[in-house]
This record gives sequence, C-alpha cells and structure tokens, in this order.
Amino acid sequence: MATAAAHHTAQQTGPQAYGAQSGVPDTACGTDDTAAYQRAFDAAVAADERVEPRDWMPDAYRATLVRQIAQHAHSEIIGMQPEANWITRAPSLRRKAILMAKVQDEAGHGLYLYSAAETLGTSREDLLDKLHTGRQKYSSIFNYPTLTWADVGAIGWLVDGAAITNQVPLCRCSYGPYARAMVRVCKEESFHQRQGYELLLALSRGTPEQHAMAQDAVDRWWWPSLMMFGPPDDESAHSAQSMAWKIKRHSNDELRQRFVDICVPQAESLGLTLPDPDLKWNEERGHHDFGAIDWTEFWEVLKGNGPCNEQRMTQRRRAHDEGAWVRESAAAYAAKRNDEAGAGRG
Ligand SMILES: [Fe+2]
Ligand SMILES: [Fe+2]
Repeated sequence: MATAAAHHTAQQTGPQAYGAQSGVPDTACGTDDTAAYQRAFDAAVAADERVEPRDWMPDAYRATLVRQIAQHAHSEIIGMQPEANWITRAPSLRRKAILMAKVQDEAGHGLYLYSAAETLGTSREDLLDKLHTGRQKYSSIFNYPTLTWADVGAIGWLVDGAAITNQVPLCRCSYGPYARAMVRVCKEESFHQRQGYELLLALSRGTPEQHAMAQDAVDRWWWPSLMMFGPPDDESAHSAQSMAWKIKRHSNDELRQRFVDICVPQAESLGLTLPDPDLKWNEERGHHDFGAIDWTEFWEVLKGNGPCNEQRMTQRRRAHDEGAWVRESAAAYAAKRNDEAGAGRG
C-alpha cells in the first residue's frame, strides 16, 4: 500500500517514476524543475522504493554511493591478499580448497561492486586509478598481517562476521543495484564466516599449541574487527545523511553492539576468550558492555601507518600492472567479435 501510494505521489509531483515501473527520465515534456525531481526522490525514499540507475537522484546521493561502493569494492579485492598469503601453506588439501574458494569469492564480490558503481556513471578504470593513487580507501582491517594459519580462521569468524553484520542491512539499501549485489554477497559471506568458525573450532579442540595459536589470532583480530564498524556515532561524518537517504539503516555503534552480542556466545562455544576484561552482560541494557576501543590506532592505520598499508598497495599496483596484457587481450577479442558480428549482419 505504502509503495503504491508513494509511487502515485512520485508520478504526480515529478516527471520521474520510481519503483517497479521506473522508466526513462521524461525530459521531453519540458519539465526542468529540480525541486519537483527532489520531491519525487524524497517520496520514493520515504516509501522504501528502490532508486534505479536511470532515476533522477541528488548529486550528493550519487557521490556518496560512488564513494561507499568503491570503498567496499576495493576492500573486497585488497582483502584477498592477507588470506591468499596462506593458500600455499594450508595444512590439508581440504583446507586449501576451502580457502581458495573463499578468496575467489572475494574477487567476485569486488566485480559485483565495481559493476554496481559503474551504474552510477563512473568507470572501473577510474575507480582503480583512485585506489592506486590513494584517493579512495579500503577497509583498514586489511592492513593487519596474517601471522599464523589460525589467522585464516579468525578472519573468517570475526572479519567476515563483522562484514555480514554490516551488509545484511545493506540488502535494503535505497539504491537498487547495490542492494541486489548485497543479497548474493551476504550468502557467500555466511559461508566465509562458517569456515572460519569451523577452522578455529578444530584448532581450539586440537593440541595445546593449536589452541594457543587460535587464542593468539583472536587476541589480535578482535579489536580491529570492532573498528570495522567505523568511528563512534558522534564522530561519524557521513552517518546522519546516509541514514536519511536509507543507504544506511543502523548506526555504527548499533551494529558494533549487535556484533559483540553475537560473538560472545560463539567465543564460549569455541572455548576461546575475547581479549576484553570489561566485557560483561548488562542486564539493564540487555546487551554486553565492552571496553574502550583504541581509536588512535584506527586513525593511524587509516592514515596509512598500519603494519601492512604499504605492502598491500605495492602488491595491488603490481597485480594491476601485470594484468595489463589480460585487459588488452580481452579488449582486442571483444573488438574482433564486434567486427565479426558487424560483418555477419552486412
Ligand atoms: Fe566479501
Ligand atoms: Fe568474505
């Protein structure tokens, strides 16, 4: 009902339709009233309709989405590095196959997301150039090193777990292509989270050395995982506007709390301890209280001073340069196919 009513409103007040019947912008009718477009956009967002690539949208909304989706895409492909580091040293064929599938999934996530960003009028080439020249960022979590095999488990359990907590609400993001990409990404992320949990469980129940290795990995990844939700709400620059646009559905602190509450019983089942002496159930709030996060560390890593920032970027630029011949070959092949198709028609 709400959708139908708002759709009607959108058609009445603006030249552009949103939602299921959304079509080509009707500029031919001579209407050039930004205020009317804006009202139609606001009504569509208020009614929880999806904004699609050909719909009118405010410039700032478009720019915010490009920034967020690009950062997300970059995180997926940079995130392949710390785990790929362990593919050749996986302890069994089964573990190697699982890890390869997982790392490959992350490349796929990058591709869905670059494609989603391209629907906003930007190009993959431009986005990659901005990554390589430091003008766009990726998640700080990937600037930490993977020191032992247990880190693969801790990343799956905590980093992919935090990513799911962030991304499930993005399946309802107001921008259609981003929301739809997230549906598939989240399904794959839940496999990633499970494989990490299962890996840690095997280590935790193994020899004392294996148990200690699992505990050490959790000790190192716990706090950076909490930072993945971004700065506290009162310091988060883009949060309020993103929530008004329904790009974001919950605040950073809300999602962080949800993640902590999910992890505590899982850590107990794993037989591992979360490295926070202040972590305890608060009956009144119905949530776990937890200790203060070291935001100085977060800002330092974000500025480029994390343990692996330089290594990640060097590797990324090298991979891009070494892949130049693949891009050239693909373009030459596409051009040849086009020529042949053209000749066939003639
Ligand atoms: Fe991913
Ligand atoms: Fe993942």
